[in-house]
Amino acid sequence: MEPNYYKTKESVEEYIKLAKDVSGKELIDKLRNVLKTDSCLLEIGSGPGTDWRILNEYYDVIGSDNSTEFLKHLITRNPTGVFIELDASTLMTDRRFNGIYSNKVLHHLKDNELIDSIKRQYGILLSHGIICHSFWKGEGSEIFKGLYVNYHTEPDLLNFFQDYFEILSIESYKEFEDDDSLLLIGRKR
Ligand SMILES: C[S@@+](CC[C@H](N)C(=O)[O-])C[C@H]1O[C@@H](n2cnc3c(N)ncnc32)[C@H](O)[C@@H]1O
Repeated sequence: MEPNYYKTKESVEEYIKLAKDVSGKELIDKLRNVLKTDSCLLEIGSGPGTDWRILNEYYDVIGSDNSTEFLKHLITRNPTGVFIELDASTLMTDRRFNGIYSNKVLHHLKDNELIDSIKRQYGILLSHGIICHSFWKGEGSEIFKGLYVNYHTEPDLLNFFQDYFEILSIESYKEFEDDDSLLLIGRKR
């Protein structure tokens, strides 16, 4: 992967092929326990759009990404969907939501960017709004094939989110290997 891996047509096409069998259905089932059907939901970093299509069955979902190549793909594949260009750390939108979801996106943010994102998520959520985010579990950070990857532990995520969100759950789960991932679900304080 190159530093612009999510930005070029060729690499985005490659990513979509590689990720064709990956879906966040089990994460979305957990979100559905706490966010009622038809709520207005923002997905950050929709990428190939697999989770967006599942979310769209249950919610009034707006997809987003900061990659124009992924956005082009999302719009072409889902012509009736609503997709906006948004950076996860700044979330510059006037829209307001009942929920915010991301699957393996916020690990691309440095700690200070994650803090900015959390404050902004708090700002764009309506009262009692729900967040549901997945992360890679571990410590430290690395550049993996050109992309910045920030690993997180349960205490580390609690520390970041708990001033703004009541933490409803933080659970380990398996993406590729046992306990390699964390799912955090919270409610706006
Ligand atoms: C690992 S992919 C996950 C895509 C999708 N959520 C999924 O589960 O298949 C990361 C996605 O996050 C997007 N992304 C990375 N950094 C971002 C940022 N700062 N703001 C918004 N999207 C970002 C990438 O363009 C890519 O679509």
